[in-house]
Amino acid sequence: MLADIMQYIECPKCGHALAEVDNVLRCEVGHAYDIARQGYVSMLRGDASIGTADTPAMVEARTTFLGSGYYSAIADAVAEAAADALADGAEGCIAEVGAGTGYYLSAVLDRLPERVGIALDISKAASKRAARAHERIGAVVCDAWDRLPMRDDTVAVLLDIFSPRNPAEFERVLVPGGSLVVVTPTPRHLGEIVQILGMLTVDDRKDERLETAFEGRFERVASVLVETQLELSRDDVAAVAGMGPSAWHVAEKRGARIAALSESTSVTLSVNVATYRQISLD
Ligand SMILES: C[S@@+](CC[C@H](N)C(=O)[O-])C[C@H]1O[C@@H](n2cnc3c(N)ncnc32)[C@H](O)[C@@H]1O
Ligand SMILES: [Zn+2]
Repeated sequence: MLADIMQYIECPKCGHALAEVDNVLRCEVGHAYDIARQGYVSMLRGDASIGTADTPAMVEARTTFLGSGYYSAIADAVAEAAADALADGAEGCIAEVGAGTGYYLSAVLDRLPERVGIALDISKAASKRAARAHERIGAVVCDAWDRLPMRDDTVAVLLDIFSPRNPAEFERVLVPGGSLVVVTPTPRHLGEIVQILGMLTVDDRKDERLETAFEGRFERVASVLVETQLELSRDDVAAVAGMGPSAWHVAEKRGARIAALSESTSVTLSVNVATYRQISLD
């Protein structure tokens, strides 16, 4: 666990500061959280529902696919948005909710050598990867629908990339003047393979719902459309399909459908990278 992130996190049970002693994070009340051998710390409540956590197989597929560089244009746009958001010098750390393998957070930290990053995710398999993804990342397993294990007003830029959004908690942890960078797929994203493979489709009204969820708390100050064509091999198609959720019966049929694809499939990448600011009340 990275010593530099201790100033930003807190005990999720009582809100007190945490200190690290012998690979255990402890608060003054006595709540204790073991640091796993793989470097992450779990602060998940015992009764948390982990049904939406990425499985080890999904994390494997995500690592393979992102490692091929096909989404590097998204990482570049996110790093650019984070750097722009910090142009006026907001203090604090960079945090990512639903950080997965830490791919995007790493790209942002490479761009911002003075900052440390906190990868928050409900999946232990993902957090293992995130903990090792960058020397300035600390990884914490937690539920985005619960109180986040972050102190009030500590995050300069919060990233949310294809992940759950909890506007009230985002507002609490962001410093005044802090920014939220959100990546959402457009209805065209991966359109060519969504139908053939029976993947989940993007709701046309997603953007509208996003604005409604943020209403009264955040306003959009910038938005960039990242859109390009990817030429994917059958293995790449299997990886991109495998990193998302889909029912078992679909996954079974998927193998045969992928085998029937031609050598290379042209697939659309299409996402919005939007930056939001807290609405100031004065
Ligand atoms: C579609 S993946 C995106 C991961 C990463 N942002 C990326 O794009 O590579 C969604 C992530 O959210 C995590 N997740 C799902 N439900 C969650 C929850 N309730 N709290 C925190 N993380 C959650 C999953 O484990 C997964 O890593
Ligand atoms: Zn405590």
